[in-house]
Amino acid sequence: MIYPIVKYGHPVLERKADPVTEFDTPELRQLIEDMFESMYAAHGVGLAAPQIGISKRIAVIDISGGEDPSQRLVLINPEVIRNEGRQRSEEGCLSVPGFREEVTRGARVTVRAQNVKGEFFEVTGEDLLARALLHETDHLEGKLYLSHLSALKRDLIRRKIRKLMKAGEWG
Ligand code: NI
Repeated sequence: MIYPIVKYGHPVLERKADPVTEFDTPELRQLIEDMFESMYAAHGVGLAAPQIGISKRIAVIDISGGEDPSQRLVLINPEVIRNEGRQRSEEGCLSVPGFREEVTRGARVTVRAQNVKGEFFEVTGEDLLARALLHETDHLEGKLYLSHLSALKRDLIRRKIRKLMKAGEWG
């Protein structure tokens, strides 16, 4: 099932998501499948459960955009345990469509997470994967990439979005 993507302005995006406590269930497997499907349909490389209105600590990433199944990553209850170096590049978010901004992030990132069975594993990524790992774990803390911008840039984007909301062209 393809879920609609929740857009900036919805409170679920700014709330800390709840930990997953039940693993290896048909519901969890289905939700993860639906998250991949929804992410590919929206042409994203990462999606966090709050972005489909579900406040749970689950994120999916595929920096190949569906080209390479071996790149599919499922992160349940993820935690960033290493964040080194710096990279600066353009970043966007499916929940903030139409905007892209330069964001400084770590260049090499390690996340510890659980898989669908509840087993712990670690994944290390560089460049785009490092960025995706940080962006998606931020979502689970209720943080959007806008929070990494200067106050000036952030306010500019907020004002543009408010105009779109007023015009009925948002969400
Ligand atoms: Ni996002």
